[in-house]
Formats: sequence, structure tokens, C-alpha cells
Amino acid sequence: MSKPHWRCAHATDLPAIGAIAARMHPDLTERLDVLAEKMLLCPDGCRVLVAKNEIAGYGLSHPWMQHQIPPLDGFLETLPDKSDCLYVHDVAVLPHFRGGGVARAYVATIQGLARSSGIATLALVSVYGTRPLWEHFGFHAVTPDAELRAKLACYGESAAYMLRDLAGSQRPVR
Ligand SMILES: CC(C)(COP(=O)(O)OP(=O)(O)OC[C@H]1O[C@@H](n2cnc3c(N)ncnc32)[C@H](O)[C@@H]1OP(=O)(O)O)[C@@H](O)C(=O)NCCC(=O)NCCS
Repeated sequence: MSKPHWRCAHATDLPAIGAIAARMHPDLTERLDVLAEKMLLCPDGCRVLVAKNEIAGYGLSHPWMQHQIPPLDGFLETLPDKSDCLYVHDVAVLPHFRGGGVARAYVATIQGLARSSGIATLALVSVYGTRPLWEHFGFHAVTPDAELRAKLACYGESAAYMLRDLAGSQRPVR
């Protein structure tokens, strides 16, 4: 039996992605069309974890601007002309498949994607107290200004905007 592995997400994966999202993020629900748009805009950043012939997780990332948070359940419409970060919209893995380094492998993949796109920073909004985990992966929380704070509010009290600088370090997350 093959090890869990990440591959690019296809439109046919959307029901599985939606089911995992609904289970992992019951209070942060998004329409499938909104998730599908991210897959169309950044196919290389949107991946699914395949384990035992089932979809066991997903990761959705796309180029964006630092200190800006795309609206939850809102369409991006288009990507910025001059993106300065790769924004990790979400990574979610079913509980049974966690702990084997799969999220780390996803981050390593998008780190490579960022570098090959000339982008030197990863960004995300940490939710559900995952900040220590992202710090473990080299992200640091940014003190939000009023505008960022207002946008973070819909992600819950523990939400933190975090950045990871890829410049100056060739060491991949492994
Ligand atoms: C976040 C999530 C994808 C991580 O998946 P995972 O399979 O546990 O991740 P990995 O095994 O790749 O790596 C986790 C690493 O973080 C570390 N870690 C886990 N919890 C940690 C914590 N609270 N503090 C510090 N490090 C932590 C682990 O030790 C591991 O480190 P290692 O690779 O050096 O051994 C998974 O927990 C999940 O789906 N959660 C629900 C959805 C969610 O909250 N997503 C994040 C939205 S911002």
C-alpha cells in the first residue's frame, strides 16, 4: 500500500475537500465554488493528500499580498499582479492521517513553489490555537494593525496572522 502523498487537486476532488472542510472547520464554512476558484487560479498550490485511495486532507495556497487577508468565503476574482507572498489559505488533514509529517510535506512543496515563482514569503492565518505548530515550521506572528485585526476577527479569537521569510535560508522545511 502506498504512503500518503500529495498531488494536485482536481475538480472531481471538490466534494471530498468540502466534506473535510465542513468537518474540520464547522464555524468557518466556505462555498465549494470559492474553493474551486483557488484551484483554478493556483493549481500548483492546491493539493490533496491521497491515502489508501481516499482523500485524507487538502492544502490550498495562492499568491497574495503580505498583510492582506483574502475574505473568508469570498471570491479572489484574480491574483495580484505583483504578489509578494504565497498565502496558505488552509491545510487540513483527517485525524487518522496526522502526525506523519504530511503537513510538513505540504509546506515544503509550497515553499518550493514560492521559490520557483520568485516569492520569498509564506503567509497564513493560524486558527484553533495552531500558532505553536506554525512557529515550529518557521512562521512568526505579526502584530496586526487595526485593519488586519478587523479582518482577523471573523477567524475567531485565537486567530493570528503569520509570515515565514524564505529569503536568506536555503534550508527547506523537511
Ligand atoms: C494542522 C494539521 C494539518 C497538521 O497536521 P499534522 O499531520 O499533525 O502535521 P505534521 O505531522 O506534518 O507536522 C506537525 C509538526 O508540528 C509539530 N506540532 C504539532 N503540534 C504542535 C504544537 N502544538 N506546538 C509545536 N509543534 C507542534 C509536530 O511535532 C510536528 O513536528 P515534526 O515534523 O518536527 O515532528 C492538522 O493538525 C489539522 O488538519 N488540523 C485541523 C485543521 C487546522 O487547524 N488546520 C490549520 C489551519 S491554520
